[in-house]
This record gives sequence, C-alpha cells and structure tokens, in this order.
Amino acid sequence: MEKKKILEIKNMNISFCQYQKGMRQEELPVIRDLSLSVHEGEMVAVVGSSGSGKSLLAHGVMGILPYNASMGGEILYRGEPLTEKRIRKLRGKEIVMVPQSTSYLDPLMKVGTQICKGKKDPVRQKKLDGIFSRYSLAKEVQEQYPFELSGGMTRRVMISTAMIEDPRLVIADEPTPGLHQKAAKRAMEHFRELADMGAGVLIITHDLELALETADRVLVFYAGYTLEDAKAEDFCKEETLRHPYTKALWRAIPKNGFQYIDGVQPYVKDMPSGCPFAPRCSRCSEKCHGEIPYREVNGGYVRCVYDS
Ligand SMILES: Nc1ncnc2c1ncn2[C@@H]1O[C@H](COP(=O)(O)OP(=O)(O)O)[C@@H](O)[C@H]1O
Ligand SMILES: [Mg+2]
Repeated sequence: MEKKKILEIKNMNISFCQYQKGMRQEELPVIRDLSLSVHEGEMVAVVGSSGSGKSLLAHGVMGILPYNASMGGEILYRGEPLTEKRIRKLRGKEIVMVPQSTSYLDPLMKVGTQICKGKKDPVRQKKLDGIFSRYSLAKEVQEQYPFELSGGMTRRVMISTAMIEDPRLVIADEPTPGLHQKAAKRAMEHFRELADMGAGVLIITHDLELALETADRVLVFYAGYTLEDAKAEDFCKEETLRHPYTKALWRAIPKNGFQYIDGVQPYVKDMPSGCPFAPRCSRCSEKCHGEIPYREVNGGYVRCVYDS
C-alpha cells in the first residue's frame, strides 16, 4: 500500500531582505526551488555543508523564520496547506522540532518541568522517566537547570522534549553534535524508531555517513539548491548516484577513499548562473550555465544536465 505523505514542500523559496548603504534594499535568495516529501514511517535526511540553507528549511516549515525573511512556494501537511494558523496550533504537539541551537532551552526552568511543559501528571511523569532511561539520563537531571548539564546531556534533553509528544512529524536540526559517536548513533536510532512507529522524520545533518545508517532517503543541499534526492541504497556505490556533487560527497567518506574536492560552496551574493556546483565540477560544460530543471531519474531526483 502506498504510504501517505505527511509533509510535502513544493517549490519553496526563502529570501532575506537586507538594507545596503543608503536606503537601498537587497533581496538575498537563500533557498531556491526546494521540493521534498516525507511519508508516514519514513526518515528523510537533508545533508549539506554549513550555510547551505538547512536550518532555514526547518524554520520555514515550523513558521519561525526571522522577520526579514520571506518565503514562497507551498507546504502541505497531511495533504492540507500548512498555514500560519495551523502551524501555530500543531507546533510543539503533532509537529515538533529539535532545534540546532541549545539556546532554545529556557535557562530558568528545571529540565523536567520544561520537557513536560509544566504538565506533570503521573502519566507524563512515567513517560518522561522512560525516555530518560532510554537516553541514559539520570532521574535527578529532571530537577536540574540547563546550565548544569554537559553539552551531550543538553542534546539528549532536547531530543527528549520532542519524544514526549508522540509527534507525527519530527524535524531534527543537527541533533547530534557534541554527542560521541555511539550516542550519536543511538540518537539516530531513536529517530528511526519514531519513524517505524509511523511518524515522518526529517533529519538535518552534515554527517552523510551517519545519515546513511538510518535514513530511507537523502536529500543533498548545496548553496540553497537541492541537487539530488536519492534512496539510501543508491549510496552503496558511486554509479547509482546522480549528481557530481553527491558523488564527490560519496568519495569523501573514509571507506570510499577520503578524497576531498577543492573549492568552497558559493555565497548567495556571488552565485554563478546555472548550476551552483559548476565552478568545482570536472564535467562542467557550456550547458551547465543555463537553467537546470530538477527532474526525476531512476526513482530519484537530480538537478543536473547529466543523468548519472
Ligand atoms: N537572519 C539572516 N539574515 C540574512 N541571511 C541569513 C540569515 N540567517 C541565515 N542566513 C543565510 O542563509 C544561509 C543559510 O543559512 P542556514 O539555513 O542557517 O544554513 P545551514 O543550517 O545549512 O548551515 C547562510 O548563507 C546564511 O548566511
Ligand atoms: Mg543549520
């Protein structure tokens, strides 16, 4: 049976309005033409280097973009438009985010009260105790304040905040930095469990290797563009991947040779025309500088003039 779509994003654009010298305004497009879907029971990873637009994607869905940002395109949640009013109602309940920054925790509230949002009835308390033992957090931590926690504990507390809600859609923005490898892997497995119980999970990370261990699909971000949407098994070998940048990421994984490519991702202000990866791509040709559609190839998507 076809699994239902929990989240569908169609042609999302996000840009910032910035004032230049004098009163001149400038539009800075930071996410362009982004489309993705997350189905029930599916874990989708968004992988990209720092500054590629991953957090803004999460904030766009959650309706928490900064005031100087504007968003275009369409976001559907369970088949209906996710309007401002609707996300306000669902945020923190059916739709939860594990934010990238630990500053989202309230420094003046005890951890346990904060996770339970003040509602500490016996049912919730029991659930919280269960989550804490799953994350190897001592019960005493519930009585502590955020500043008393180590970095790794803070991460696990933030993940617990999402887990207490039985969410249908989880967006986790780099939930694993500061965790040692074993804990990071365990955290990813917990997100996997949520997906296996039927939730849609969108994991944002710059760690492709970690994503591949648990995710069903991987979206590759680069300078605000989605360059590829591939099944995790497409990463078993280089030949099944579609975009030259994805292949470069594949070759940079230690077990595949640890080969790094030269250059850096372009900043929004000096974006080349056409493919943003073209300046670093060994296959770059004349046609890479024109408009490049995002199209379906072999059960995945790619934004490249070549098929593979
Ligand atoms: N408030 C803002 N004003 C202007 N530009 C911003 C703002 N927030 C983020 N950006 C820019 O948007 C781009 C994407 O940011 P972000 O989504 O945080 O990247 P990532 O999470 O992938 O590291 C970056 O180039 C960043 O400089
Ligand atoms: Mg980020």
